[in-house]
Amino acid sequence: SSLVEDELDPFSLVADELSFIGNKLREMVVAKVPKLASAAEYFFKMGVEGKRFRPTVLLLMSTALNLPIPKAPPPMELGGTTTTDLRSRQQRIAEITEMIHVASLLHDDVLDDADTRRGIGSLNFVMGNKLAVLAGDFLLSRACVALASLKNTEVVSLLAEVVEHLVTGEIMQMTTTSDQRCSMEYYMEKTYYKTASLISNSCKAIAILAGQTAEVAVLAFEYGKNLVCIFVDLQSIVWCFQLQIAMFSCCCCCYMKPGVLNLYISLGNNSVDIFLSICIMYMLYMFLNAIINSFSSVLQGLAFQLIDDVLDFTGTSASLGKGSLSDIQHGIVTAPILFAMEEFPQLRAIVEEGFENPENVNIALDYLGKSRGIQKTKELAMKHASLAAEAIDSLPENDNEEVRKSRKALVELTQIVITRTK
Ligand code: FPP
Ligand code: FPP
Ligand code: MG
Ligand code: MG
Repeated sequence: SSLVEDELDPFSLVADELSFIGNKLREMVVAKVPKLASAAEYFFKMGVEGKRFRPTVLLLMSTALNLPIPKAPPPMELGGTTTTDLRSRQQRIAEITEMIHVASLLHDDVLDDADTRRGIGSLNFVMGNKLAVLAGDFLLSRACVALASLKNTEVVSLLAEVVEHLVTGEIMQMTTTSDQRCSMEYYMEKTYYKTASLISNSCKAIAILAGQTAEVAVLAFEYGKNLVCIFVDLQSIVWCFQLQIAMFSCCCCCYMKPGVLNLYISLGNNSVDIFLSICIMYMLYMFLNAIINSFSSVLQGLAFQLIDDVLDFTGTSASLGKGSLSDIQHGIVTAPILFAMEEFPQLRAIVEEGFENPENVNIALDYLGKSRGIQKTKELAMKHASLAAEAIDSLPENDNEEVRKSRKALVELTQIVITRTK
């Protein structure tokens, strides 16, 4: 059965090519100055390459679009392109996309003042902000050189625009007015710029390089866009549960502290008693901790039953329970809360006040629990999943076994979440 699963597993399908791209990326970031060299290669080293979603999707898309070329490719730009040439050009799109992605992460961690990324210290934390910003610029310039080498001006404009979108999305996020903070439209727009534009336009570039029609290019774009939306929706649900768990543990600790303190005061009169009371306190603490933990895991178990696979898949589970309240808070005004706000307009005042005050987090979570916010977000994710699958199904028919397998894997990427959550 593992053989059958391997054939369907999107990641195994492109595993060899992914490691080839990994090597290529390491070659691409070589720099003369030692300090810059070590900063630039930081997130391309084995073991810290991340989930490589984008290259995976792009390679599968390349195969999925492996159709007879409908229109003669422009002679200057694609003249004499053999199939393998085309494949290596499409691989280059995957490399460029990953490079832009990592560059944006380096800058993002400076802006967010993050201290970890991909399970290790973030570059700004390890080498400082200045070097992290410059390393990001360096990666971006290497991506530009690779882009230019494709000699396709349409693709160059497309990906240059993506960088503009990343910046736009980031600025939109950091300059929201309170009206915008409560608007679903604004949230969707920001999500497109910040997260979806990169993968959707790279998918489009894959189609353009293959000389496909504008219709096929749009389908590739739509697939990428909807795929990212699924992940963003599910991530927002995960944030809600993380917040719930964090708040729950917080409350338990608050109730626990005075009780333990009283016990200490009433027991501790002389040194023997102090020793005893410390022992009792310690035992009590461990006991309560165990209860809280098991409660948390029961809660988590219930909450995540539906999206357990997603968590495995996106790697979010690794950070589960470890994020501090303030880490998770930045994701609070997302689809679930925005939907809840439609049902309970009084929630708007809380959102406008902000979530510095944990009491507001509690109130918001309360409304969220009474609303259909989570359910509606799940439905939204399902809608995106079927739109993404629809885009793949609308591609011109093809009997080639490899093409069919890749298309199936692309649909599987969307269904990995959705079929199991039904
Ligand atoms: C880092 O990317 C996280 C973000 C850019 C925010 C939101 C992204 C997602 C929910 C995943 C997007 C999904 C697809 C299919 C592109 P990352 O989680 O990809 O980071 P990594 O490169 O370190 O794995
Ligand atoms: C992750 O978001 C960040 C992004 C998806 C894009 C950040 C873009 C810039 C900083 C603009 C500069 C762009 C380039 C190409 C140099 P997040 O902070 O929500 O996610 P996280 O939890 O993964 O940090
Ligand atoms: Mg960040
Ligand atoms: Mg950020």
